[in-house]
Parts: sequence; C-alpha cells; structure tokens
Amino acid sequence: MIYFDNAATTIKKPRVVWSQTIKFCKKYGANAGRGQHELSQIASMSIQQTKDKLKKFLRCAHFHSVAFTPSATIAINVVLKGLDFSKIQNVYISPFEHNSVLRTLYALQEQHLFTIHQLSATEDGVFDLDKIAEQFAKDKPNLMVVSHVSNVCGTIAPIEQLCQLAKRSFAVCVIDMSQSCGLIDLPLRKVNADFFIFAGHKTLHAFYGVAGIIYRQSARLKCFIHGGTGVDSQSRRMPEELSSQIAGSSNILAIKSLDVALTYLAKKGIANIEAKERQLTKALKKILSRFDFIKIIGDNAQSISVVSATFEGMSPEGVAAFLNRHKICVRAGLHCSPLAHRHFNTLPLGTLRLSIDFFTKRSDLRRLNGALKKLQKTVTNKKKKAS
Ligand SMILES: Cc1ncc(COP(=O)(O)O)c(C=O)c1O
Repeated sequence: MIYFDNAATTIKKPRVVWSQTIKFCKKYGANAGRGQHELSQIASMSIQQTKDKLKKFLRCAHFHSVAFTPSATIAINVVLKGLDFSKIQNVYISPFEHNSVLRTLYALQEQHLFTIHQLSATEDGVFDLDKIAEQFAKDKPNLMVVSHVSNVCGTIAPIEQLCQLAKRSFAVCVIDMSQSCGLIDLPLRKVNADFFIFAGHKTLHAFYGVAGIIYRQSARLKCFIHGGTGVDSQSRRMPEELSSQIAGSSNILAIKSLDVALTYLAKKGIANIEAKERQLTKALKKILSRFDFIKIIGDNAQSISVVSATFEGMSPEGVAAFLNRHKICVRAGLHCSPLAHRHFNTLPLGTLRLSIDFFTKRSDLRRLNGALKKLQKTVTNKKKKAS
C-alpha cells in the first residue's frame, strides 16, 4: 500500500523504534513509580530521560517541564478543563482547530460564560496578523488556542507572533503541536506560550499511547483526572505539580518508543526533516495542480505535509474509495475539524486529504500521479456519456 494518511498517524516508524523499544520492555517493563525495586526505578529513570531528551530536542527553556498523557486529546482536556474560567471572557481559536479543542471548549461553554472568536485568516488559509491585532484590540484575549500545523490544509501558524500579540493582554496561550512536533524547526524557548501539546504517534514517530504537555513549571491547573500517582498516597488530594497530577500507570512501552524515536529524529536533524517535507509537499501540490478537475484547498506557501483537495464531479469519499482500489491510502471528509471546512466552504462533504511524511518516496508520488490519470479518464468518460 502507498500511504498518504500520515496526518492520522505516521504508519512507518523507524526500524530502531520497534526493535529497541521491545528489547527494553521485555527486560524492564515494570510499573514506574510503583515499587522500590530496581526494575521500577529503571522504568522511572527511563521516563525522566525521555522528558529531558524531548526538552533538548525541542530546544525548550530551562523553566519548561513535560507531562506525559495517553493522547493529545487527553492532554488538551487536561489543560483546557484545568484553567480558571472565572477570569476568561474571550477565547481565540484558529479557524483550523480539531474537535479535541472545539468540543472541549463547547463543553466548557455549558458551564462558563465566554465567547469564542476565530482568528482572522485569508481565504487561502494564511493568518492575517494585522486583522488579528485589531481583533485583540477590540476584544482582549484571555485565552488563545492555535494548531501549529493544520490537519486539514497544512497551514503553519505564525505562533511566535500570535503569542507575542496575545501576551500583550496576558492571555493564556496553548499551542497544539499534534501535527508539527518534530517537523517544524522552531525552538520552543522562542515561543511565549504557556502550554504546548504534542502527540507521539504522529510527526514524532513513536507508538500510540504517548502524548503530553510541555508547560512552565510555575503553571497550575485544576486537576481533572484523579487517582493513584505512586507518591503521597495517604493524602486525599492530588499533587499540585502538573506532571505528578497525571494519575494512572505510565505507558512505559509507548514512552520508550518516543525515547528511541527522538534519538533517531535528532540524528536526522529537524531542519533536514522540515526541508525534505517542504519539498515533498511542493511536489505533491505540483502533481495535483496538473489536473484541472482537482482544486487544492487552502493552497498557500505557508503550508507543509498536509494537502486537501476537492474533485469536480466526484465526492471526496468516492475519490478515496477509487484510490483505495489502487492501493493508495488517503482520508476523506471533515478530518475532525469542521470549522476549517466552513472557512474553505467545503461543507458538508469536506475534502480529500493527502498527508506525507519524510519516509514518503518520489515513487509514491508517481504512483499517485498514475492513479489520478486513470481517475481523470473515468471522469472524462462520465462527462461524455452525460452530454
Ligand atoms: C491538530 C490535531 N490536534 C489534536 C489531535 C488529536 O490527537 P489524538 O487523536 O492522537 O488524541 C489531532 C489528531 O488528528 C490533530 O490533528
């Protein structure tokens, strides 16, 4: 199969991620923080090592800490449901937010009084910083949540500038890096955000089951998941510090896979990864734009790895089924981001999404080109029959 669904998950993990993770877990897969014995201590040390490695890889500031969660969705819930909404009136989101952000905010709106504003963006999906400054002057932001890379059109949000603008009003800034962590060459210490969310199984090439939050050590959130943490068990209350607040056994297998993946990615170099994926994205867009029945959605120079398109005379689902018959995996529909489709006027059917990875080969793109030529013939024949 040719795989263009890397925004859902990067299916191809570096070989060492499989081999080293399984080797480690067969020997040391004890429950971290749940025993005084050597194996449990090794598991705890291994988790700390991965946190340190992640901070170094992402060039975090000295005041940043890491908390692991089982998924990005849970990490987003931990952060948003942990905030004090009595002080939040204006929430700004990008037009491209995932339902993990949207539905969490909508659920919070049932308990708290706040307005959700959309950050201004052009028709082709570029953030309009001048208009955003005007929006912020009119309704001061208290909270801003932005996807670094859109999972619909691949737009890269200018998160440095957005946080700078939002911080003039002391807004809490949350950056969803589910589609960008390990892909975009930007030191996190340069971004004045309070919380960064990451997903291990996507651009970081780890297994499912590890994600998390990078946050300022001083950050305090209301605890939303309660349970055992392995420390201070007599206390009826959860610990104050965020990384100690994530209750439940740690997924040592997934965390180890992230550790190995980080070593692999660091060797490869994040700048090289970004450069390669930019080239592949360009090549993919070039192929799509050869066909006049295909329209790229949110086509702008600030996009990477994710490309959405609509097809004249065919639904995205129909095209996805056709490509599947040609052994090409893509995704059709709304991609859990309904606002993006309102922005691009692609409701209700959504788009066909093709998403690449640094493992994507030029020959994969050629196979796609061949399949699209066949699709074009089918569309032309259908048109002829109809006329
Ligand atoms: C931008 C964005 N945020 C959050 C998520 C949620 O990630 P997960 O389903 O791994 O929790 C996704 C998943 O596709 C995403 O693309």
